[in-house]
Amino acid sequence: MPELPDLPGTLRLPARVHFGYGARAQLPEIVAGHGTRVLAVVDPFLETTPHFAAVLGALGTAGLDVRTYSEITPELPVGTLTAGAAVARDHRAEVVLAIGGGSALDAAKLIALLAVHDGPLARFYGENLVPGPVVPVVAVPTTAGTGSEVTPVAVVSDPDRELKVGISSPFLVPAAAVVDPELTLGAPASVTAFSGIDALVHAAESYTARPLPLGWSAPLPVFTGRNALTEPIALQAAERLGPWLPAVVRSPGDRDARREVALGALLAGIAFGSTGTHLCHAIQYPIGALTKTPHGLGTGLLLPYVLDVLRAEVAERIARLGAAVEGIPERDASAERTVARVAGINRAIGVPATLAEIGIGRDQLPQIADLALKSARLLAIAPVQPTRELLLDILGRAHAGALDDRSAA
Ligand SMILES: NC(=O)c1ccc[n+]([C@@H]2O[C@H](COP(=O)([O-])OP(=O)(O)OC[C@H]3O[C@@H](n4cnc5c(N)ncnc54)[C@H](O)[C@@H]3O)[C@@H](O)[C@H]2O)c1
Ligand SMILES: [Fe+2]
Repeated sequence: MPELPDLPGTLRLPARVHFGYGARAQLPEIVAGHGTRVLAVVDPFLETTPHFAAVLGALGTAGLDVRTYSEITPELPVGTLTAGAAVARDHRAEVVLAIGGGSALDAAKLIALLAVHDGPLARFYGENLVPGPVVPVVAVPTTAGTGSEVTPVAVVSDPDRELKVGISSPFLVPAAAVVDPELTLGAPASVTAFSGIDALVHAAESYTARPLPLGWSAPLPVFTGRNALTEPIALQAAERLGPWLPAVVRSPGDRDARREVALGALLAGIAFGSTGTHLCHAIQYPIGALTKTPHGLGTGLLLPYVLDVLRAEVAERIARLGAAVEGIPERDASAERTVARVAGINRAIGVPATLAEIGIGRDQLPQIADLALKSARLLAIAPVQPTRELLLDILGRAHAGALDDRSAA
């Protein structure tokens, strides 16, 4: 028998997770299970759509008293969250219904936090600093990507900080997640591509994360690194996203493709919500701040370069990930082939291939590396020692478009 690794497991999840076309019909019952006074935090694109009118109608029929808040702006400035929390308090909301992209879901999670715990929000920046339960959140994504509907984290921008900041706490895991692919059908191609590739990055980083030594008698970190319960889920996510992400960008109205990508993104969220993410995410934060490019564009662009650099350390793992992404037997897979396939997916869905293409100068790379090094929590679960030299190596390759994948291309 091969020697088995002693890998413990942790999953923190909403009490209910529903997935499938039509699942949104469960919403009135789920929401009513938490109270009758509801704050609906709604992505602005959705507010005037028949889908939202139908959800509101069903909640009204169930006797719920719903107030709507839709002042969600890109990058989530802190002020809009404080205003949302004031509306929640004024309405004495017992439950927050969050519907929208990852930004709207993150906004709802933080509004639910500030509705219970006095701000400023900066008190909670970092890990495990939320002191207790927040207003229960029922989360309904309209993009297939972030997994925010099942994760313990939300990301905001604070004018006092150079980079976006995360708040992570088990108390931010929504009470319920309802993933209905129907709601993603109208998403524009770029939103589909960038949120979808972010989901593949979540799966890849979860699967390649370093396992943290967990002492069961001490409080657990929010993100545990790779663990026994998330490993198979991350691979399942990769299996769905690998073939179906290019398909959904090619044919946005393809209901099968929308379903598979929505499922892949949900599974990736379940996986990384407990393990965390590492290098692509740590490096994307400063890149996003400098270029104002979408989160998934940055993480997706970086993924082939990060995997390429990690090949020396975790080759087998990257090969297994690639077998899932490509749907091939493990014996035919290799780390080089994985890198080539991921780069191919990026090309197929319109993720730029280099940092130069998104306007970053070579001279900016040291500054990006220094800022990325500040994401100590993320870097702690990278599978290699995340030195400044390593980050500069990844950045240099990503800037020049230098991938060692030609043998497998
Ligand atoms: N909390 C987490 O676990 C987590 C994980 C990854 C990323 N994030 C955060 O999520 C954000 C990105 O989220 P996203 O990729 O879902 O994009 P998004 O929420 O920023 O949405 C992008 C745009 O698409 C619109 N949109 C959303 N769904 C649509 C639909 N079905 N049809 C038409 N338009 C639609 C939105 O109104 C918005 O204009 C980033 O801020 C990132 O930091 C959070
Ligand atoms: Fe992400």
